[in-house]
Amino acid sequence: MEMRTTTFFVLFLLSAFTSYLPSSTADVLDMKGNSVLYSSAYYFLIPQNGGGGLGITRTGNETCPLSVIQNSNSSVYGTPVKFRSDPPGFLYVGELDYLNIQLPYDLKCSGATPSDWTALGDDEKEQLYVKIKGYDNTVSGLFQIRSAPGYFLGYNLLFCPSGPRPRKCSYLAVEVDDGENRRLVVSKSDENRLVVKFKKFGERFKASA
Ligand SMILES: *[C@@H]1O[C@H](CO)[C@@H](O)[C@H](O)[C@H]1NC(C)=O
Ligand SMILES: *[C@@H]1O[C@H](CO)[C@@H](O)[C@H](O)[C@H]1NC(C)=O
Repeated sequence: MEMRTTTFFVLFLLSAFTSYLPSSTADVLDMKGNSVLYSSAYYFLIPQNGGGGLGITRTGNETCPLSVIQNSNSSVYGTPVKFRSDPPGFLYVGELDYLNIQLPYDLKCSGATPSDWTALGDDEKEQLYVKIKGYDNTVSGLFQIRSAPGYFLGYNLLFCPSGPRPRKCSYLAVEVDDGENRRLVVSKSDENRLVVKFKKFGERFKASA
């Protein structure tokens, strides 16, 4: 009955792989060193500039909080997000995966679901801002996460406009606007790229000494 066991095992492996395709690249790790999961929610904390985590707010004449910003208060975690791989079917978030970033709940006031991150151009400033879906003239694309050199468990976020893969991606950065908002933007240079760390939603924070 050796044969049957082997066959069963192979079938088991195949089914395991088809339901959760292994990522071809390194897993993205959270602040505790655990793999970041597509099924969980995370805060983006910023180790760089003395501010808090990424969140959402109203800017300009928005009546719904559609702008992704960094909280200026360093003790505020911000708004958690979840990830969706494209194509779907992965368990662990991998570096270089093309993914959607979405709020874990839908913003009813936005009129669009799911509440995904997207990019919106500002003609005056020739700048792409990271927004929550709700505008009709957004730039279609996906996001990517890459390990940030020199930062332990730190990562850069990138926006990759639609097109043939591999796509040409640009780093996200934080820029302060006229209203003192720390706006998340698609940067035109590589120099001010934002570094984020992943804090799992619902997990107790233990500051490391
Ligand atoms: C803000 O106002 C401008 C000018 O009236 C309009 O074009 C734009 O769509 C408005 N934005 C929002 C988010 O309502
Ligand atoms: C920052 O956030 C903390 C926690 O919510 C709050 O206690 C504190 O008053 C805030 N500080 C400022 C300057 O708003």
